[in-house]
Amino acid sequence: RTTELDSICLKAEVIPVLMIRRVEDAVPLARALVEGGLSVLEITLRTDCALEAIKRIKAALPQASIGAGTVLTPAQYRQAEQVGVDFVVTPGTTEALYRYGVGSAVPMLPGIATVSELMIGWQYGYRRFKFFPAEASGGTKALKAFAGPIAEARFCPTGGIGLHNAEEYLALKNVMCVGGSWLTPQSLVEAEDWEAIRSLAREAATRFHH
Ligand code: 3PG
Repeated sequence: RTTELDSICLKAEVIPVLMIRRVEDAVPLARALVEGGLSVLEITLRTDCALEAIKRIKAALPQASIGAGTVLTPAQYRQAEQVGVDFVVTPGTTEALYRYGVGSAVPMLPGIATVSELMIGWQYGYRRFKFFPAEASGGTKALKAFAGPIAEARFCPTGGIGLHNAEEYLALKNVMCVGGSWLTPQSLVEAEDWEAIRSLAREAATRFHH
């Protein structure tokens, strides 16, 4: 699991978090991000068309790694598996999700915000986590503190991250990548300004490469 997640996260230091409201936007939006240099995407299951969007993106952009985000239940995890996602991301994590994730062929990046939550995931064998909501939960200070008791855990922080602070997170030893919605502003998506989104992706890919 850890190896699979590492190989996905090593492809990009920045993972765009997408909320797709119109299914027709899915492929052009994802293509703009991938062409801009960001080939690992998290599609949140916060909209009705999210699963259909994932299916279309997987078919159109087989070279990209596509994760389902905002997975709250094992039932949603299963739906994500059925549309062929490469990984699953959760905002916080229940015991039911951990149990399901351990038995799944699709790796999960479990969301945690505290040391206690981290310890629960650790017990289930998880070593890679999403730290969410990062800025609201102590940001880089919290991540530095996590490295004390659980030094081997690695994180993808999201929540309040943008061009202004991504570098501070990526400088930490226990941060493998960062995620966020700043690469897909709703106004640009509504205007179908894929060129502007490609530029945002390129800017992030150039500034934060490995
Ligand atoms: C997520 O689920 O990761 C967040 O919604 C992304 O947070 P952001 O919108 O603050 O980037």
